[in-house]
Amino acid sequence: MSPANINILAIESSCDETSAAVIRDGKVLSNHIATQKVHERYGGVVPELASRAHMQNILPVVDAAIKDAGMGNDDITAVAFTQSPGLIGSLLVGACFAKSFAQAMNLPLIAVHHMQAHVLAHFIEDSPEFPFLCLTVSGGHTQIVLCRSHLDMEVLGETIDDAAGEAFDKVAKMLGLQYPGGPLVDKYAALGDPLRFKFPMSEMKEYTFSFSGIKTSVLYFLQAQKKLDPDFVEKNLNDICASVQYTIINMLMAKLRKAARDLGIRQVGIAGGVSANSGLRKALKDAGEQYGWKVYIPRFEYCTDNAAMIGITGYYKYLKGALADMSVTPSARATWQ
Ligand code: KG4
Ligand code: ZN
Repeated sequence: MSPANINILAIESSCDETSAAVIRDGKVLSNHIATQKVHERYGGVVPELASRAHMQNILPVVDAAIKDAGMGNDDITAVAFTQSPGLIGSLLVGACFAKSFAQAMNLPLIAVHHMQAHVLAHFIEDSPEFPFLCLTVSGGHTQIVLCRSHLDMEVLGETIDDAAGEAFDKVAKMLGLQYPGGPLVDKYAALGDPLRFKFPMSEMKEYTFSFSGIKTSVLYFLQAQKKLDPDFVEKNLNDICASVQYTIINMLMAKLRKAARDLGIRQVGIAGGVSANSGLRKALKDAGEQYGWKVYIPRFEYCTDNAAMIGITGYYKYLKGALADMSVTPSARATWQ
């Protein structure tokens, strides 16, 4: 199949961002993201509200993506959408829209795994060589992924409880910060002392992670300190954020280093929402210099949820002929691939 003029319309709706993108021959022409502000006042994503917001956003977002790419509906070659994992109501909106669009325009449909798409976000502007090792860190997942080719990926290890992003968000909530707390912890951490407070690092086997321990230890630590001084958080916010972030990053980097060493891989990247974290980005660059890795860090807009990464994954699947049929349904949890 010739790779010329393949225009993929991509739709992402797995959580609280409604996004649409148009990708031509692997290049992003447009990438629109409607962030749902409605969840802020609840301190986390409310699934029912997310589904409703997707329904309101999806048409204007898709319309803007197609227009912004300088195209009309007739120019689209295939429709890619996030099939799993995610909030089922949110996934359903994107899946129904993608299927309807494909059916109305008589186009092929491509079902995309959200976590595979986070990894392939690296291929939007870069082209890491294989084998490539990716630490994928988001609000729902923490995985070390071995990529043998664009579509041949293996999860070497993942978290047994909370994801790294969840740990950031839960600690942020304890500190009274707004959802999503990860970016705010990052902001305050930049002003604080990472060695001021010590939090335990979980000791897990192989490439397995666990982040529920640090969350609990921060909770008990704050409860104890607030008994001594009710203003403890306000007075020490920067140092608390810096110390928590330092511990989470150390846990992530320890496993990534181990995997790179065990497998002898020197092409190493980070992906997913937490890869927007400035401390993690710096830690990867430092490790790259120390161990002679070539490191890959996506641009900010391709770290957090976006349809461009669904589009690039759709593009590789289209080239391989990995299409879905109209009976495809979304799934909250899905096995890899
Ligand atoms: O990949 P993503 O946008 O959505 C999921 O697939 O889950 O990741 C969202 C997660 C949230 O937990 C958010 O707090 C975290 O990524 N995040 C960050 C930063 N930016 C986003 N965590 C730490 N530092 C950041 N700068
Ligand atoms: Zn994501």
